[in-house]
Amino acid sequence: MDLFDAAEISPEDMQKIKKRIDDLRFEITRHNALYHTEDAPEVSDAEYDALVKNLENLEEKHPHFKSKNSPTQKAGAAPKRGFETAAHKVAMLSLSNAFSDEDMKEFVLRIQRYLGVDTFIPLYGELKIDGASCALHYENGKLVKALTRGDGKVGEVITENVMTITDIPKELPEGFPQNIEVRGEIYMRGDDFEELNRKQAEADKKVFANARNAAAGSLRQLDSKITAERPLKFFAYSLIGKSDAYASHSGEMKLLGEAGFALPPEAELIKSEETLYGHYKRISEKRQSLAFGIDGLVYKVDDLKFQERLGFVAKAPRWAIARKFPAEQVTTILKDIEIQVGRTGVLTPRAVLEPAHVGGVMVSHATLHNEDYVKDLDIRIGDTVFIERAGDVIPKVRSVVEAKRPDDAMAFKMPKTCPVCASHAVRPEGEAATRCMNHLNCPAQVEAGIIYAASKGVFDIDGLGEKQIQLFMEKGWLKQVPDIFWLKNHEHEMRHLDGFGDKSVDKLMASIESSRTIDMPRFVAGLGIPMVGVQVATLMAEAYGSWAELQSIMKEGAGKLGSIDGIGPKIIENIHLFMDEPHNVALLDAYAEAGVIVESYIAPDRIESELTGKTVVITGTLTSMTRTEAKARLQAMGAKVSGAISASTDVLIAGEKAGSKLKKAESLGVEVWNEDKLEAFLNYG
Ligand code: IVH
Repeated sequence: MDLFDAAEISPEDMQKIKKRIDDLRFEITRHNALYHTEDAPEVSDAEYDALVKNLENLEEKHPHFKSKNSPTQKAGAAPKRGFETAAHKVAMLSLSNAFSDEDMKEFVLRIQRYLGVDTFIPLYGELKIDGASCALHYENGKLVKALTRGDGKVGEVITENVMTITDIPKELPEGFPQNIEVRGEIYMRGDDFEELNRKQAEADKKVFANARNAAAGSLRQLDSKITAERPLKFFAYSLIGKSDAYASHSGEMKLLGEAGFALPPEAELIKSEETLYGHYKRISEKRQSLAFGIDGLVYKVDDLKFQERLGFVAKAPRWAIARKFPAEQVTTILKDIEIQVGRTGVLTPRAVLEPAHVGGVMVSHATLHNEDYVKDLDIRIGDTVFIERAGDVIPKVRSVVEAKRPDDAMAFKMPKTCPVCASHAVRPEGEAATRCMNHLNCPAQVEAGIIYAASKGVFDIDGLGEKQIQLFMEKGWLKQVPDIFWLKNHEHEMRHLDGFGDKSVDKLMASIESSRTIDMPRFVAGLGIPMVGVQVATLMAEAYGSWAELQSIMKEGAGKLGSIDGIGPKIIENIHLFMDEPHNVALLDAYAEAGVIVESYIAPDRIESELTGKTVVITGTLTSMTRTEAKARLQAMGAKVSGAISASTDVLIAGEKAGSKLKKAESLGVEVWNEDKLEAFLNYG
């Protein structure tokens, strides 16, 4: 039974709810004091907010427990922590990536095709600064607000901190547009970073892993006096909200330079494909001698009218691309190959390495994927190997230096049994993975499942990592994922365990509490149904807004899910197999009993327009844009674009030489738009 949704609640459960409410009130009050009076917060702002939200939910569902002594009822409600937040007027997006000349060529052709031209479209090439992005708002010529990127839609207000950065103009010169937004990157120079770390180490303070972390960390200080002491700098890379007089991105950059903003050096207007590759090569060779870190180059369509037509896909503009540098590679010794057993039973070989510094961190393990990968690269224990790490990606063994192979190097053999539970390990015909078949009873699989559930992508529980999970499993406190939410029953004993101070137990308990509420896609993806990751789970959540509804459809056999675009028979079969196992159904009940609250799905904002939810068909030849462009832009306005005309079509867009579809539309009484009307709609809504 779901403790918190049931209409009829037993007296025992009622007591449990009351206890949870009391615990939450106590915890929140304690965190308020830690934060406001002692300046020593123990939980992150997000965790704190989740605790408050949890309490608010419970108080709303059980109004008879409301109390004016609750921290939710105190004057000014729950005090705000951390930075204030504010919505971005224009979303701050990310960029698609290119890793080779071929990827760049594809980008060039893609934009040509989209715009229906066959000549090279000039691109502005800029350094991609490795720092933290920031949006600066100017009103009547004065810097009035600065925001971090945040989640792209809402950022943190860091105005006071930004005011301390000397190369950011606080006022705009006369004659320059006065109400604008300037976006750019806050960064730290390499020499300044080294110096800062030296001082930090001397003062026994936090030492940063790299210049980017140092810049981002310095920017997000609650005390702007600390930010003021940090050597932060700013490069501008975009201007928003100016008049239309500047028709190109390069023109806007020039203007920003004249207004006193520092601009990334080495920028170039690229007018041919050859220069495009040459520019990248020249900068790659120069990279090490630059005073600050860059993680690639950004190429932007220079013409702003083209930019507008190209628009956006999902979270990135179609008119720009980041050309990334290849991952840094270093050599080290492969000391051993160990086997890890994953949550679905897959045996993965993992390299144990002589620790080496790569991509800004120390690496001592790297993935070897599967048996074939090790065989194909002929990787042997004792070999000198090249390893690489790009960004946040898991380190990889890329190749072997055969010339350095010692005589006693040992070839690798995939074991025939699971190294943890000794059951048969099977590699089915035609598959690359070897699996332990003892799913439910293999401790390694159970452990990996719990580790996965506690990780960022699912319940995101701080302080519940591999080590703690192993220990709690040994103690018998964790047998399956929902047990995480009963760990509170062992809190007292936990406080007496080696390495568990009061502080860390309090933190863990708070984090578990705040993770009890989870959004629907993450919860469904976390169930471990093959082929059901966050993307598929989101499709299901979009179709059936609440977990209760989705669960009942899954119980009925999942057939109905077949009507969702993107969910095919294989996925349905997997859901069916999952629900056919009584222990999986019991698992779902165990989540509810443990008080896990799966939040109903709230669809992200879409542009609302006259055509939102309407079905549109395009026919004939369009002259001002390609069909791909028209389709994408209509979709961005919320329309469904279909190929066939029928009585359920709402609008037919008829270009030149429209034929039978136009006739059919007229006979069906479907509204018909010509290209002018389409353009007016796309440009002005
Ligand atoms: S343009 C619509 N230009 O890279 C996207 N971004 O993945 C506009 N960045 O978080 C971004 N240098 O902060 C642009 N010269 C540059 C950049 C740059 C660094 C960062 C930016 C963003 C990320 C995009």
